[in-house]
Amino acid sequence: MKIYIKTYGCQMNERDSESAAALLAEAGHTIVYTEEEADAVILNTCSVREQAEIKAIGKLGIMKRLLYEKPHMIFGIMGCMAQSRGEELLQKIPHLDFAVGTDNIHALPEIFEDLAKERAKIRKDARFGADTPGIDAHRVEEADKPYCAFISISRGCNRFCSYCIVPYVRGRERCREADSIVKEAEMLAEKGVVEIMLLGQNVAAYGMGDVLPPIPDDESPFADLLERISAIEGIRRIRFTSPHPAFFNKKLIEMIARLPKVCKNIHLPMQSGSDRILKEMNRPYNSAQYYKIVEDLRSLVPHINFSTDIIVGFPTETEEDFNATHALMHKVGFDNAFIFKYSPRKGTKSSKMTDDVPQAEKERRNQVLLAELEETNKRKNAALVGETFELLVEGPSKRNAERWSGRTDTFKTVVFPKPENIKEGDFIHVKVTSATSMTLYGEVVEK
Ligand code: SAH
Ligand code: SF4
Ligand code: F3S
Repeated sequence: MKIYIKTYGCQMNERDSESAAALLAEAGHTIVYTEEEADAVILNTCSVREQAEIKAIGKLGIMKRLLYEKPHMIFGIMGCMAQSRGEELLQKIPHLDFAVGTDNIHALPEIFEDLAKERAKIRKDARFGADTPGIDAHRVEEADKPYCAFISISRGCNRFCSYCIVPYVRGRERCREADSIVKEAEMLAEKGVVEIMLLGQNVAAYGMGDVLPPIPDDESPFADLLERISAIEGIRRIRFTSPHPAFFNKKLIEMIARLPKVCKNIHLPMQSGSDRILKEMNRPYNSAQYYKIVEDLRSLVPHINFSTDIIVGFPTETEEDFNATHALMHKVGFDNAFIFKYSPRKGTKSSKMTDDVPQAEKERRNQVLLAELEETNKRKNAALVGETFELLVEGPSKRNAERWSGRTDTFKTVVFPKPENIKEGDFIHVKVTSATSMTLYGEVVEK
C-alpha cells in the first residue's frame, strides 16, 4: 500500500513519523509524500494548543473528498491527539479508520494488515499501551537530510507545567537505557549520519528518576550521555531539545562547554520572565536563576547562543508581568524564540483559571516580542560579518538553486554561492560577508 504520513507538532512527532515510516516500509508498504499518490493517509497529530487540533481535524475533513476518486482510501491518526481523543474522534468522524496512540507505533503494520484483509468494512482500531518497541527504527537513506538524525532518549513528561497537556497525553517520563541510545547513535554513524539531535520533553532530567528541583550540582546522567555520544567516531555534531531550566546544573553546563561536538546553541524554554507567572505555571525557577544559566554558559563559551519558548497571555498576566518577560528576553538576546499565545487545554491545572487576557492583547504581546527578536537578530547578525564559520552543508537554498546554504554549530543559516565538488552533508568554511535579521551571506574559504 502507498502510505502518506503528514506530521504536526514537535520534533518528537517528527521522530515518531520516521519510526512509523520505517516500520511500514519494512512491512512492504511504500511511503509516499503526497496525499494524491496515497492509498492511505496517516496524520501524526499534536494537542499542545487548540489550533493544532483544529488544523488536523480540518485536514481530515478536507481529505474526505479523496474518497470520491479512491473509495478504498484509508485514513488514520497517530500522535498526541490520537492518544487523548482517539476514541471520540473515531466516533465523530465516520471516514476515520483507525487511531494509534503515542506508544503503539509498532502496531501500525498489523493494523494495515487487518485493514487490507477487511477493506470493505470500516475498521476502528484504537490501541493504547505503555511500551514503545520500534522506537529505534530509522530511515536514514530516505530522509530529507540523511546526514542528520533524531534519537528519542525519553518519552512522556513528569513536570506538569500548569498549562501543558503533554504529561496527560504522553504519560509519565520513561527514559531509555543509555546503552541502547549509544548503540542507536553508533548505528546511525555507520550509515553516514554526522549530526544527532537528542529528543525528550525534559532531556536535562534524563536518568534522574523522581528527584525534584533543586537538583544536585554534581550529577547529570544526561551530561554522561553527551560524553558517550561524543566519543562516537563519525558523529561531528550533537544537539538536544528541550532541557528544562530547573534541571540544568553545574555538571551539565561544564560538559556542554567541554565537549566540542556539542553544538553551542541551546534551546532553553523560559516561558515567562515574571517570577509570579512562573510560579503559576509550575515552573520551579525564577528569572534570576534562568539568567544565571545563560551567564554561566556564556562565561565558559562566549559565542554560545540561545533560543527559547515563551507563552504570552497566561491567565492573570498583567502588563507588568509581560514587561518582565520582554525585559528578560532583551537581556538574554535570544537568537530564536518560539512565542505562543496561551491556549487553555482541557484537564490541565491552568484551564481552571479564567483565560482573562483578551485575544487582541495576546496578539499585541506576541508582536512586541517578535519585534524584539528581530531587533536582536539584526544587531547580532551584523556583528558576525567578517567572521569565519564551519558549516554543515544542507543543499540548495530555498530561493535560488545556485546558492547553497548550511548551518553553523550555533544553528545560524549561512547562504553562499555553490562551489564545485561539494555535496549535502559536507563540512566547509565560510566567511560571512553580509547579513540580514534572518540570514547570513558568505563565501567559501580555505580553513
Ligand atoms: N517539553 C518542552 C515543551 C513542549 S511543548 C519544554 O518544556 O520545553 C512546546 C511549547 O509549547 C512549550 O514550551 C510552551 O511554550 C508551549 N505550550 C505548551 N502548552 C501551551 C499552551 N497551553 N498554550 C500555549 N503554549 C503552550
Ligand atoms: Fe509540558 Fe512542562 Fe513537560 Fe515541557 S516540561 S512537556 S512544558 S509539562
Ligand atoms: Fe504536540 Fe505532542 Fe509534541 S502535543 S508539541 S506533538 S508532544
